[in-house]
Amino acid sequence: MSIMYYLVTNALPLNKDNIPTKDLRMNTSRILILALIIGFLGHADAYAEQPLQLEAREGYYQFPFFDTKTPVWSYNDQIPGPIIRAKVGTTMVIDFANRLKEPSSIHWHGLRIENAMDGVPGVTQDPVGPGENFTYRLKLEDAGTFWYHPHFNSSEQLERGLKGVFIVEEAEKQPWSQDWVWLMDDWLLQKDGTIYPQFNTGRDLMHDGRWGNAPTINGNFRPAFQAKPGERIRLRLINGANARVFSPHIEGLSANIIAVDGRPVTKIFALDRFVLSPGNRIDLDIRIPEQAAGKIFAVEDRFTRKAFELASIKVNQSEPVNSPKFTPPTEANFIPAQMFEKVKVEKTWDLNAIRGGKFGIGWTMNQKLWPDADKVNYPLGVPRKIIFKNSSSRLHPMHIHGVFFRVLERNGMKAIEQFTRDTVLVGPRESVTIGFVPEHPGIWLTHCHIQEHAEAGMMTTIEVKN
Ligand code: C2O
Ligand code: CU
Repeated sequence: MSIMYYLVTNALPLNKDNIPTKDLRMNTSRILILALIIGFLGHADAYAEQPLQLEAREGYYQFPFFDTKTPVWSYNDQIPGPIIRAKVGTTMVIDFANRLKEPSSIHWHGLRIENAMDGVPGVTQDPVGPGENFTYRLKLEDAGTFWYHPHFNSSEQLERGLKGVFIVEEAEKQPWSQDWVWLMDDWLLQKDGTIYPQFNTGRDLMHDGRWGNAPTINGNFRPAFQAKPGERIRLRLINGANARVFSPHIEGLSANIIAVDGRPVTKIFALDRFVLSPGNRIDLDIRIPEQAAGKIFAVEDRFTRKAFELASIKVNQSEPVNSPKFTPPTEANFIPAQMFEKVKVEKTWDLNAIRGGKFGIGWTMNQKLWPDADKVNYPLGVPRKIIFKNSSSRLHPMHIHGVFFRVLERNGMKAIEQFTRDTVLVGPRESVTIGFVPEHPGIWLTHCHIQEHAEAGMMTTIEVKN
C-alpha cells in the first residue's frame, strides 16, 4: 500500500478520484530539485538593508508522488515562498511584482504595520493587476513568527502555492542551537499530478473548507530534520493551509510553547494538544536529551481521528553538545485579561451559513455577506470586547488584522489562555469572547481564515479612528 493511499484513506476525507496513488519514490530529479530549493533558500533570506523582490508567477513544482511536475503559482519560483528575515525596528521594503494572469496582493499576516501596507484589495489598496508592481514598506515593530500570503481570490491563490514565512528577529539574539521554520500546508492533488482545479465547491463550503490529501512541511512530504544530542531548538510552526487544522505532537520529546501568533507567551507551558488553525503560529523550545543519540522522534498530527506523520527529528550519532542555558522572554503585561473586567461587550458577530452569494452557499457575519458587511468603527486606544458566536456546526478560525487580542471567555465561562493571538478557532456552536485595544488607525479586516469561508462572505472590517 502506498503512503499516499494510507494517508488518504486513514486521515483525510476525500473522494477517491482525487487521490494520487503513485508510490513515494526518491528519484534523482527529486534530489536535484531539493538541493536547488535548499540552495535558493540560503540566498533568499533577506535583511532590511536590501530591498527584496517578491514575484508571483506560474511555475512547476516536483512533488515526490509523481513523475511529472505539478503546475503551481509561487513567489520567486519557490514552494513555499522565500523566508523573509528582518530585524525588529527596521523598515523592510518589498517590491511585489505580479506576473500572474489575475490580480493579487500581499498581506503580512499578524504584523502591526501601517494600514496602507496591509495588502487588502478594495480596503487598503487597489488590486495589483497582472504585470503591475506594488512596493510595500513595512515598519517592523514586533519581533516574532509571521507569514505572508495574497488577499485576492485567496482560496485559489494560497492553494496553488502563494505563501511564505516572515520572521522578525528580536533585538537581542538568543543562543538557540538551531532555529527551524516549518510551514505546514496541505495540497489537494489529483492522480495526474495536478492541483484539483475546482475552488469554492459546494463540498468545500458545506464543510470546513478545502482539506487536501498531501500534507507538507516546507513543501516536503514527511521531511527529516537533523539534530544533535543536547541541542536546544527553536521550532516555529506556521499553519499556512487553506482549511486544515493541525494539532502537532512530538512523540517522546518534551516541548514548551514560548510564543503564540508571533508574541511571547504570558507564561511558558508544555505543548499538549495545542490546536493550530489556519493562520496560527507557535514557537517551541525543544530540548534534545543528551542520551538521545541515534534516536528518531516522529512529529504527528493528532487533530483528525487518525494521527498521521508530518515529519521526523533525527538525532545524530554524536557526542552531546553543550545545551544553551537561557530563559526565553515572556510578556506578563501584554493586554492582560484584567483590563477588560469592566468593559461591556461591544459587538457580537453571529457566524452562520445562508443560501445565496456567488457560490450558492454564503458564510455570514450577522447574516451579511462581504462586502455588504456588518462593520464596526472604534476609537483609538479604547479597550473593546467582542464575541464571535458560531451558530453553525463548522469550524471558523477568526482572524483580525493589525491587532493582537486575548481570549477572555468561551461559552460565557472564563477562559484562561497564557498568551494573546491574532486568530482564534471558534468551534461548532461555540462562542468566544475576546478583548483587544485598537492601537493603529485604519480599516482592519476581520474574517474566517478558512479561505473558502472568507471567499464566500465571512468577512467584515473594524475601522479605527483617532
Ligand atoms: Cu492571513 Cu486576512 O489573513
Ligand atoms: Cu469559517
